[in-house]
Amino acid sequence: MDTQGKPTIIEALEGPLVGSVRVPGDKSISHRAVLFAAMAEGTSRLSGVLDSDDVRSSVRAVQKLGAQVALEKMADGSLAGGITGWGSHGPCAPDEPIDCGNSGTTVRLLMGILAPWDVEVELTGDDSLRSRPMRRVTAPLVRMGARFYPEESTTLPLTVRGTRTLRAIDYDSPVASAQVKTAVLLAGVGACGTTRVTEPSPSRNHTELMLPRFGVQTTAASGVAEVEGPACMQACEVEVPGDPSSAAFLACAAALVPGSAIQIEGVSLNPARIGFLRTLEQMGVDASRRGVSSSGKELSGIISVQYCENLHGCEVPAEKIASLVDEVPVLSLVAAHARGITVFREVSELRVKETDRIAAIIDGLALLGVNAWMDGNDLYIEGNPDLHVADGLEFTSGGDHRLAMTWALAGMTAGVTVAVEGFEAVSVSYPGFLDDVRSLVRRV
Ligand code: S3P
Repeated sequence: MDTQGKPTIIEALEGPLVGSVRVPGDKSISHRAVLFAAMAEGTSRLSGVLDSDDVRSSVRAVQKLGAQVALEKMADGSLAGGITGWGSHGPCAPDEPIDCGNSGTTVRLLMGILAPWDVEVELTGDDSLRSRPMRRVTAPLVRMGARFYPEESTTLPLTVRGTRTLRAIDYDSPVASAQVKTAVLLAGVGACGTTRVTEPSPSRNHTELMLPRFGVQTTAASGVAEVEGPACMQACEVEVPGDPSSAAFLACAAALVPGSAIQIEGVSLNPARIGFLRTLEQMGVDASRRGVSSSGKELSGIISVQYCENLHGCEVPAEKIASLVDEVPVLSLVAAHARGITVFREVSELRVKETDRIAAIIDGLALLGVNAWMDGNDLYIEGNPDLHVADGLEFTSGGDHRLAMTWALAGMTAGVTVAVEGFEAVSVSYPGFLDDVRSLVRRV
C-alpha cells in the first residue's frame, strides 16, 4: 500500500453505539468463491461478495487467467453475478505478470491453483506483499512437482511453472495457516491421489467447507484436511456471509464506549473465525451470538455486544490464536483498557502479516501510554482501566488495513480526535468502516 500522503483526521464519536448493522462480505470466503468459480466448469452464481481492493486483486487475476467475470455492484455495496471458469481447459498464461496488490490470499492460493497446469505465470504484488514469506507455500508445492523461479528466492516476484503430473502429498505444515493449507489442497485437486495437510492447530476451514459445493470431496478433522484428486470442479452457487473480522472492530468499539449495545447481522459464525468473541467474553464483555441460517456448511447469524464497565485482562492460549489471528490488533486495544495483564500466546505469525503487527501494536500502545512487550513469542499488554487518551495523537498504519482501523478506534472510542497515517488502507478489507461505525452512533 502507498503510505505517503497526509494522515486522515478521525473525529471522536459523539455518543454510544446503538442498534443494528450489517458488515460487508467475508474476505476469505469471497476470495475462495471467486477463485474456485474460476477453476470450475460452467457458470457459478455468487452473491454477497466483498467489494474491496483485496478481492478485486483475485477478480483481476482470474480474468487474466481466462475466467469470464460478470459481477455487478448491488445496492448494499456487495458484488453479485456470474463467473464462468476455465474448467477442464485450464488457465491460460497471461503475457504479463499478475499483480496481486496487497493480497496474500490471492497470491498464495493462485500458486496452488496454477501448480497442476502446464503454464508459466509470474506473480507479484505491492511492497508489503513482496516482503512476505512465500517459501511456506512454494516448499510443499515443489514437493508435489511444481517449480518456482528464481529457485533461491523466498519472496515475490516469483514465476510458477506448473505440471500436469503433480504428485499428491502428505504435508505436515509447520504453521497453522489457512493460506498454506488451501494452496496445497487446491494443488491436490489436480494431483493423483489423496493430498493431506496436517497443522499444529486448526486454521480457518472455508476451503474444506466450500470445495464439496464445487463437486470436490474433502475430509476434515481438527487440524487435518484431505482432498481426493484429480477432480473436476463444477459450477455452483455461493452466498457469502458477513465478515467476522470486520464485525470484530464494531464489537470491540461497542465494548469500549459507555452505553453501547449493538447487533451485527448476517455475519459468519464459523467457529474457526469467532475466537475474538470468546476473548471478549473472557475479558468480561457481554457478547453473544445467535445462529440463524447456513449457506452450505457455513453458519451465519447475529452477534450482540454491550459496553463493559469492568474489563479485565485474560490469557489467550496458543491453540486459539488461529481463530482470532486477524483480530489481535483490535483486541490489544481492548486489552489496553482492561484491568491487569492480557497475554496472547505464540503470536509470532503476526510478524509476517501485511506489516509486522507485533511491532506496530507495541508502538501504537506506547503512544497511548500503555506498556506492551514480547516475551519469547508471547505478547503481553498491561492494561489500564483509567487510561486517558490524549487528544491529537498521530498513529501510523504502515499501510496495514487492520492497524488503520485499530488506531482510528483508539481515538474514536476514547472520545478524542486522532490522526491516522495511511488510513486509506481500510479499502483492502472494509471500505465502509467509518460509515458503519458512524451509522451506529446515537447522539446524546
Ligand atoms: C486467510 C488466512 C490467514 C489470515 C488472512 C486470510 C485466508 O492468513 O490472516 O487474513 O483467507 O486463508 P494465514 O493463512 O497466513 O494465517
